[in-house]
Amino acid sequence: PDARAAQLDLAGRRVVVTAGGTREPLDPVRFLGNRSSGRQGIALAEAATARGAEVVLIAAHLEVPAPAGVDLREVSTALQMQDAAALASEGADVVIMAAAVADYRPVEVSEGKIKKDERGDTMTLELVRNPDILAGLAAAKAPGQLVVGFAAETEPDRAAQLELGRSKLARKGADLLVLNRVGWSEGFATERNDITVLDAGADIVLEAVGSKLSVAHRILDVIAERLH
Ligand code: CTP
Ligand code: CA
Repeated sequence: PDARAAQLDLAGRRVVVTAGGTREPLDPVRFLGNRSSGRQGIALAEAATARGAEVVLIAAHLEVPAPAGVDLREVSTALQMQDAAALASEGADVVIMAAAVADYRPVEVSEGKIKKDERGDTMTLELVRNPDILAGLAAAKAPGQLVVGFAAETEPDRAAQLELGRSKLARKGADLLVLNRVGWSEGFATERNDITVLDAGADIVLEAVGSKLSVAHRILDVIAERLH
C-alpha cells in the first residue's frame, strides 16, 4: 500500500493501550509484581500515534519512558487499571490490553510494615482473584469497537501454544489475541518479539518477528484493516 496513506491510516481513531505490569500491595513497602517492562505496549502506543491515532496509554510501572504525544494515565494495581481502562474505552475504536495484569491480589493489605517476628518461619499469603479486565471490556464493547488481548505463554510446543491461545481468545471474547512466547529471557524486557495473532474465528491472521516497534506496526496493520 501507499506509504503515506498507510502512515495515517489511524487518523481520527481513538486507541487505548494498556502497558506494563500491575503491582498488588502487601504492605506500605511491598508488592506482588511481574517482569513486564511495558515495551510492547509502548511500541503499540508509539506506532498508533505515528499513524495518526489519538492514543490513551494506561501505564503500570513502565521500565522505559512513555512515547511523546500520548495521553498518559498512570496506574499501579489491577483494580486501578480496570477503572482507567473502562473510562478510556468509552468511545474508543480500539482497546489493546498489552499489560501484564496480576491475576491475584492479597486479600488484606497491612496498614503497617509486616514484621517477621509476628509471622515465624513460614508465612502464608491469602490472595483473591482480580477481575479479568479484558473479558469485561470485550463483554461491554460498543458495536464496531475492536478489543485486542495479549497472551504470554511459556508452553514450548507450538501446537499446544496455539491451542492455549485459541481457548483463551474464546474465553475472553476478544476480537484478536496476540500470542507471544515468554520464558526467563524471551519476551519480557527484550527488544525483539516473536508473535502470532489469532482472530475470533481462531484463524492465524499474522505471524511476525522483529523489533517490538516493527511488530507493533504489523499488529496495527491487521487492526486498521479490520476497522474499515
Ligand atoms: N488480562 C486482564 N485482566 C486480568 C488478567 C489478564 O485483562 N485480570 C488480560 C491481559 O492483559 C492479556 C490477556 O488478558 O491481554 C491474557 O492474559 P493472560 O495472563 O495470558 O491470561 P489469563 O486469563 O490471566 O490466564 P493465565 O494467566 O491463567 O494463563
Ligand atoms: Ca494471567
